[in-house]
Amino acid sequence: MRTGEAALTAMDYRLYWILLLTFCSAYSQAPDVMQELMCQEVVADQSYSCEGLGLQNVPSSIPLTTEILDFSFNSLYALYDSTFSRLRNLTYLNLARCNINWIYDYVFQSNIHLKTIILIGNPVLYIKDYAFSGAIPVSHLFLQQTSLTNISKIKVTNLNALENLNFGHNFISSVWLPDTLPTRKLQTLDFRFNVITKITTKDTEILKNIKNLSLLLMGNNIDYIEPNSFNSSVLNILDLTACGQNANLSDLLGGLNGLTTNILRIGTFENMKNKFPVTPNTLHGLCNISVNEVDLQHTHFDQLSPNTFFCLSKVQKLDLTNTWIDCFPKFNNSLRDLILHKNEFNSLCDIKTESLTLLTSLHVRYNEKMISMGTGCLKNLQSLQFLDLSHSIEETKDCCSNHSMGLVALKYLNLSSNGRLTLSQHSFPDSDNLEVLDFAYTHIFIPESFSPFSNLKLLKVLNMSHSYINGSNDHILEGLHNLSYLNLKKCSFYSGVIKASNLFKHAVNLEDLILSSCEITAIEEHAFSNLKKLNYVDLSQNQLLQFSSNAFGDLSYIYLNFAFNRITIIPFNLVHNIGNQSIINLSHNPLDCSCSNTQFISWYMENLKMFEDNSNTLCWSPQSANGTMLSMLKINCETSSGVIFVIILAVIVVIIIIIVAVRYYRKKLYSSI
Ligand SMILES: *[C@@H]1O[C@H](CO)[C@@H](O)[C@H](O)[C@H]1NC(C)=O
Ligand SMILES: *[C@@H]1O[C@H](CO)[C@@H](O)[C@H](O)[C@H]1NC(C)=O
Ligand SMILES: *[C@@H]1O[C@H](CO)[C@@H](O)[C@H](O)[C@H]1NC(C)=O
Ligand SMILES: *[C@@H]1O[C@H](CO)[C@@H](O)[C@H](O)[C@H]1NC(C)=O
Ligand SMILES: *[C@@H]1O[C@H](CO)[C@@H](O)[C@H](O)[C@H]1NC(C)=O
Ligand SMILES: *[C@@H]1O[C@H](CO)[C@@H](O)[C@H](O)[C@H]1NC(C)=O
Ligand SMILES: *[C@@H]1O[C@H](CO)[C@@H](O)[C@H](O)[C@H]1NC(C)=O
Ligand SMILES: *[C@@H]1O[C@H](CO)[C@@H](O)[C@H](O)[C@H]1NC(C)=O
Ligand SMILES: *[C@@H]1O[C@H](CO)[C@@H](O)[C@H](O)[C@H]1NC(C)=O
Ligand SMILES: *[C@@H]1O[C@H](CO)[C@@H](O)[C@H](O)[C@H]1NC(C)=O
Ligand SMILES: *[C@@H]1O[C@H](CO)[C@@H](O)[C@H](O)[C@H]1NC(C)=O
Ligand SMILES: *[C@@H]1O[C@H](CO)[C@@H](O)[C@H](O)[C@H]1NC(C)=O
Repeated sequence: MRTGEAALTAMDYRLYWILLLTFCSAYSQAPDVMQELMCQEVVADQSYSCEGLGLQNVPSSIPLTTEILDFSFNSLYALYDSTFSRLRNLTYLNLARCNINWIYDYVFQSNIHLKTIILIGNPVLYIKDYAFSGAIPVSHLFLQQTSLTNISKIKVTNLNALENLNFGHNFISSVWLPDTLPTRKLQTLDFRFNVITKITTKDTEILKNIKNLSLLLMGNNIDYIEPNSFNSSVLNILDLTACGQNANLSDLLGGLNGLTTNILRIGTFENMKNKFPVTPNTLHGLCNISVNEVDLQHTHFDQLSPNTFFCLSKVQKLDLTNTWIDCFPKFNNSLRDLILHKNEFNSLCDIKTESLTLLTSLHVRYNEKMISMGTGCLKNLQSLQFLDLSHSIEETKDCCSNHSMGLVALKYLNLSSNGRLTLSQHSFPDSDNLEVLDFAYTHIFIPESFSPFSNLKLLKVLNMSHSYINGSNDHILEGLHNLSYLNLKKCSFYSGVIKASNLFKHAVNLEDLILSSCEITAIEEHAFSNLKKLNYVDLSQNQLLQFSSNAFGDLSYIYLNFAFNRITIIPFNLVHNIGNQSIINLSHNPLDCSCSNTQFISWYMENLKMFEDNSNTLCWSPQSANGTMLSMLKINCETSSGVIFVIILAVIVVIIIIIVAVRYYRKKLYSSI
């Protein structure tokens, strides 16, 4: 009786929803659209968007050759065999939220190239048996939010190419698949946010025959999985995220015995605490499962101990993001990849590394508090190549030689957004293999004349943006022969000048150099001329008065960003040898548009396509031209022959008048004597 009542309310709710949607659609139809609404051409003859135009049929303006059609947010009510028959070349059809209630037979039979059909958010009441009939190679079918209750209502019997079937946000109560469903190519079956509460061996009979399937069940409230439901199943992903809200995870895992899967997700969503914390016994069901990657994000652990992970000894990747742990225990493992973001460690030494000898990647981002590097905490990680410690490390003096000692295999180190770090001579003495080093948004202090990176011969990328580096220390980049990318945004130079001899001389292979917002006022000639490979230079947001192209060796192919500086006049000799494949940005400079800059301006006009952000490249002076786009400017600095003639004439007249006057006065003078 009680369950009957519950079912009735569920159905009432469903009916109410459908009626509401139908009513809304009828209502939205009301204002009669008289004028022909235009679909947008995305790519001529190929791709069109009619999104949100309230259309009731496909306009005849859509050409026959169309391959991609976005017809979402319109008012179709029903799909007939004639609705799309004209568009035989369709490969992608988006019909999301089109108020479709009825889908009749053979709707897509002419669309023999159709690969993707999106029917999300349609209150589908009825789908005829032959709706999807025809030789159509559909591989992606999206049926989210279509009030679907039972998959057998969708007759997809002949969609033999189906790879991706998406049933999310419906009212489906079981993972059961009809045996008519073509599964030969099926890769992903998405049941997220349905009303599946139980999984039984009967439900999974067909699923078991699909090899390497990704079965996505997140957001279902599953309280029971019958043991053996997945015995001898081989899956790619089994996603049970937030499925155990009302269940004991340990019981659910017990039902997964015999499963082989590449990835198993059993965490929850952020801001959702699992009612049953993970205890030392909870994960023991994993002993009967073969799995490579386990994702336990956002779960709460109780009495974390080596025993908790007893059954994870063969797991290669473990994600414990936001699990409130303050210690990662030592246990027998084969981990290659460990993700520990957003946890509550006090020191890096809280991660017990003795048994992590195979680990190649360690991620400790956004720790809840700033933590100390400790001493030698990570020295056991002899295979570690990738280390992310961003948003986590507290202010550290004498970083990092004593702290991360011994990481001989390290290639990538992310220390961005941390507390202030003071580097010393040879800060990474053992990590000769480093290729990427990221200090962005971490205040770095390098005592005068120290060269902290001198052993990093393989370093390619060094990000010290917002690290407030003092660029007047010539030794910083010593030894970085392979550096190709250097970001020093927000650095500083003594009195704002980059000298001809400077720190960059060590990084001879530099290609990308970012020096924006460094308060630079001047760059001496040849400052970068030994950087033969330099081809991307960002000098925006400085105080430069000169377009200092004479600082660079090779200008044949270069990107020069001088936006937001104080450049007014650009002598022609600074631009005439810039190759025409180059890109220059001079926007937001107080450019002078008077005749004194005319040579540059004519060169600019002739080479417009070399310039970036022309609409913000404006004249500043003279007053009359202020705000005019340089590319629209009309100035005439050549004096015309008419004017010259008038001037000469005027001069002659003046001379004649003077001569006549002189003679007249002389005469007068003599005659008076
Ligand atoms: C479909 O595309 C092919 C080439 O891809 C073209 O030859 C054919 O004419 C197109 N069919 C229609 C109906 O436009
Ligand atoms: C779905 O429909 C099929 C065939 O009509 C039926 O056998 C099955 O029990 C239905 N499943 C549910 C969960 O109602
Ligand atoms: C399983 O599928 C995934 C993605 O669909 C693919 O990357 C992987 O190679 C497949 N594995 C096997 C064994 O076929
Ligand atoms: C699981 O499946 C295997 C092979 O299909 C079978 O031998 C075994 O008995 C099954 N396990 C259980 C507990 O039924
Ligand atoms: C979960 O189930 C296991 C075994 O079924 C039991 O030992 C454990 O106490 C249960 N946990 C909770 C929190 O009920
Ligand atoms: C593993 O499976 C065996 C039988 O196949 C069962 O006896 C045992 O209890 C299972 N272990 C766990 C931890 O579920
Ligand atoms: C660790 O696990 C491996 C198999 O993964 C096993 O061979 C070995 O005996 C275990 N060692 C300990 C100390 O449990
Ligand atoms: C370092 O981590 C930050 C986020 O913490 C990220 O934005 C950045 O891309 C990472 N750096 C590299 C080089 O991947
Ligand atoms: C770092 O190590 C060196 C030698 O190993 C030692 O002399 C120095 O005191 C250590 N510095 C810190 C801050 O521990
Ligand atoms: C630092 O620069 C690298 C290379 O461009 C980039 O991948 C990384 O995201 C940057 N770091 C931050 C925190 O933005
Ligand atoms: C930067 O370094 C130069 C010389 O190495 C020094 O004269 C200057 O005071 C330093 N500037 C700052 C802000 O530390
Ligand atoms: C140009 O116009 C801006 C605002 O539009 C003004 O702030 C600036 O002083 C003007 N420059 C000159 C030289 O008049």
